Amino acid sequence: MAKILVLNGPNLNLLGDREPHIYGTDTLADINGRLAAMCEAQGHQLDSLQSNAEYVLIDRLHAARKDGTGFIIINPGAFTHTSIALLDAFLAAEIPFIEVHLSNLHRREAYRQHSYLASAAVGTVVGLGAQGYELALQAAFRRLAQGN
Ligand code: DQA
Repeated sequence: MAKILVLNGPNLNLLGDREPHIYGTDTLADINGRLAAMCEAQGHQLDSLQSNAEYVLIDRLHAARKDGTGFIIINPGAFTHTSIALLDAFLAAEIPFIEVHLSNLHRREAYRQHSYLASAAVGTVVGLGAQGYELALQAAFRRLAQGN
């Protein structure tokens, strides 16, 4: 049994309602519900947190260093493109993570095409909508089973 943490950054509480032509119609509760069911089926424990505040996400990463979290999936929202502080928190945590984006950043504005976190991530999933979280979680299961 592993502890898996799913983090979502700013404005992702509005999923389903926010620019659905870009981000889809699933709510964050829909997505987290599916992830929780997947974790339960695998015997893993899921914790999820969404925050619009950078420091809340950073504080949760600090807590993750001490609470046995084995893997993190994060959609950092716009903090992807701005937050060296979030990168530093991941470097300090030394917990493997996958970065997820609903939209295909490579087809969007230039300012969305750089991620401060990607260099520290195991991998990234972009442009596959809400399914991207599920694919990231499947990858996490595989890595946890392999012990890496
Ligand atoms: C996003 C892409 C970001 O550029 C944007 O700021 C978001 C959502 C995505 O999931 O596609 O809030 O992370």
